Amino acid sequence: MALTTELGRPPQLREVAGVPLQAATVDNWSQIQNFEANSDDLLISTYPKSGTTWIQEIVDMIEQNGDVEKCRRAIIQHRHPFIEWARPPQPSARNAKDCMVSYYHFQRMNQMLPDPGTWEEYYETFISGKVGWGSWFDHVKGWWERKDRYQLLFLFYEDIKRDPKHEIQKVMKFMGKNLDEKVLDTIVQETSFEKMKENPMTNRSTVPRSVLDQSISPFMRKGTVGDWKNHFTVAQNERFDEIYKKKMEGNPNFPNFCM
Ligand code: A3P
Repeated sequence: MALTTELGRPPQLREVAGVPLQAATVDNWSQIQNFEANSDDLLISTYPKSGTTWIQEIVDMIEQNGDVEKCRRAIIQHRHPFIEWARPPQPSARNAKDCMVSYYHFQRMNQMLPDPGTWEEYYETFISGKVGWGSWFDHVKGWWERKDRYQLLFLFYEDIKRDPKHEIQKVMKFMGKNLDEKVLDTIVQETSFEKMKENPMTNRSTVPRSVLDQSISPFMRKGTVGDWKNHFTVAQNERFDEIYKKKMEGNPNFPNFCM
């Protein structure tokens, strides 16, 4: 693994099949290519900064029947390892503008990724798809176009935020579980932003500062919908909406949560 803590940030990402990736992911690429799922595996597929940690915690809480103590048995990265560092798919999406904002702040604090530069510079990098794990548009369109062909549950960050209990119930049914109301309420509470921000098993506080420098920006940053309004200029917003319209042309039913 090419971890670069002593050498500082990598100046740029490395590409595999045209997709810019973090060095550790490139080094372990064969693990992703050779991954074979078992029939009862659950694979969570998210574009970076779309609420990966949130859905991981929700899935574990359901799996453990709402047992809070059991869900504290290990940090989230060990309970739900990333394929490249370690079950039907469960894509989760978040509106592109909030994703960009969250990713910008994440890249400022993540010393394993190149310096994002200014917000203006990062805006260009993001819309050109030159960020780690590639273009937001390619990711969401790829899964959206396949959603009826495979056994997968497509979730939206904004929906979980608006009605967590309803969305958690969807995940529960997808997992073939049947938990009672009280347990569901516990899961809603325990997976709230406030709880997960305080929980050392989910807030990445165990990751060394040389990797994730939370004094620059906390991993559990804001957890809100619409923070893009505090970052985008009017011109950036208008241009983004034009690009969004063109890129998502063939996917008219994909919900646009950032208008
Ligand atoms: P912000 O930077 O907008 O706050 P990922 O886990 O894919 O890296 O996504 C991180 C984003 O999800 C961060 O967004 C983080 O605050 C948010 N998040 C994590 N847990 C959350 C929760 N329980 N409720 C709402 N948002 C959450």
